[in-house]
Amino acid sequence: MDYVERFQQLDAWLVQHQSVWRAKPFTQLNLSWEQEWPELATWLRLRSLSEAEQAHTQLQALDAPDPFRQLCEQAATLSQVPDWSAEPTRSWPELLQRHIPGRKWQQITRFTQASQRGWSRPPQHWLDWCAGKGHLGRLLAWQGGQPLTCLEQDAQLNHDGRILSQTLQVDATHLDCDVLTPRAWRQLRPEHSLVALHACGQLHMTLLQQAAHAGCAQIALSPCCYNRIDGDSYHPLSTLAQQSGLQLNRHDLSLPLQATYTAGQRARRLRDQSMAWRLAFDLWQREASGRDLYLPTPSRPESAMAQGVAAFCTDLAAHHDLILPNAIDWAALEARGWQRLAEVRNLELVGGVFRRPLELWLLLDRALYLQEAGYTVNLGLFAPAHLTPRNFLLLAERNTEQAITSL
Ligand SMILES: C[S@@+](CC[C@H](N)C(=O)[O-])C[C@H]1O[C@@H](n2cnc3c(N)ncnc32)[C@H](O)[C@@H]1O
Repeated sequence: MDYVERFQQLDAWLVQHQSVWRAKPFTQLNLSWEQEWPELATWLRLRSLSEAEQAHTQLQALDAPDPFRQLCEQAATLSQVPDWSAEPTRSWPELLQRHIPGRKWQQITRFTQASQRGWSRPPQHWLDWCAGKGHLGRLLAWQGGQPLTCLEQDAQLNHDGRILSQTLQVDATHLDCDVLTPRAWRQLRPEHSLVALHACGQLHMTLLQQAAHAGCAQIALSPCCYNRIDGDSYHPLSTLAQQSGLQLNRHDLSLPLQATYTAGQRARRLRDQSMAWRLAFDLWQREASGRDLYLPTPSRPESAMAQGVAAFCTDLAAHHDLILPNAIDWAALEARGWQRLAEVRNLELVGGVFRRPLELWLLLDRALYLQEAGYTVNLGLFAPAHLTPRNFLLLAERNTEQAITSL
C-alpha cells in the first residue's frame, strides 16, 4: 500500500463528505444531508430501534436507498488493509495465560503472531508501553528470550506483573512511571522494540514521538481511544495530515470508537431509556420555548430514572432554569422520545459508514509520521473485530541506512 496515495484519497473523501459524518442526529432535528438524499432520510426515519441496533455492526448488509450502498463500498475500499489476524499456529504453556482474561489472551497471542511479520531484524529488548501487568511484553520476551522493560503508572499492576515475570523466569523490569513524562522517555534506547496494545490517544502519540526521537529499532502499536488527547483539537503528527483541510476536534475523534454496543441487556435498556427521555425533554423544551436549540443534558444517576419521565424532564428543565408548561401528556411525550431515539439511531448509521475510514486516516497520520522519521511501516489487522473493534496494528522498523535524526 502506498500510504501517501491512500491518505490523499481518504482525506479528499472525508473532506467531501464532512457535513454527512459531522451531522449530529441526537442534537439536530434535521440534518443537512437529508435535503440532498430525501429518499434515504425518509427510509431511515421509518425504521425501528431494533432494526437500527441490528444494522449497526453490519452496515454493508443494509439494503438502504442510494447513496448508502455506494458510500459503504467506497468506505470498504478506502479502509482496506491486509488481514494478519490468523488463528495462532502454536500453543503456549498454561502458566503464561493463567491470569489473563480469555479475550485479552486471544488479542495478545494474535498481536504477538502478527508482529513477527513486519520486521526484518530480530528484536533485542522489548519495551511494553502502558503495560498493565505486562502480559503482552512477557509473552514476547518469554517466547524470544529477550529482556523486557514495562512502563506502567499503576504500582499495583507493576507489582503483580513483577511476580508473574519472576514465576516465568522472564528477565523483566516493571517500572512505576508516567509515560507522559521525561523520566519515562529517558528509558528509551535504540535497541528497544516498543509494543503497545490499546494505548489511548495521547499515550500512543507520545510513544511514537519519543520512540522516533530515541531511534528505537521497532514499534508495534494497536491504538485506541483517539479522543483522549490534550486539548480540544487534534494536532496531526505527519506533514501531510498537517496540510489537510480536515480540522478534527475531540468529538470527531470519538466517531471511530462508536463501533459496538458491548454493554449487557440491562445496561442497554437503561441507556436507551435515558436517551429516549432526554430526547423527550428536548422536544418539550423546544416546543415550549419556540427555540430550535438543543440544550445539553447532564448525566443523571440510575435512581433518577426510577422517578419516572415527568420528574426526569422536570429536573432537566430546572437544571436550565426553565419554566415550562406542566399540563402535558407525559405518556405521549415519552412515546415521542422513543420514536425520536429510533430515528436518531437509524440516521446515525450514515455517519457510521465513515467510522473506519476516519480511523484509518488517523492511523495513516501515525504511519506517515514514522515514515518521515525514517521508519518502514506496515499497517494491517491483528485480530478479528469480534475479539476487539480496535484491531488495527501498526508495525514500524527503523531503516538501518538512515542516521538517527533529531525531529
Ligand atoms: C487500556 S490499558 C492497556 C494495558 C495493556 N497494554 C493491555 O492491553 O492489557 C491502559 C494502561 O495504561 C496505563 N496508563 C494510563 N495512563 C498512563 C500513563 N500516563 N503512564 C503510564 N501508564 C499509563 C493504565 O494504568 C493501564 O494499565
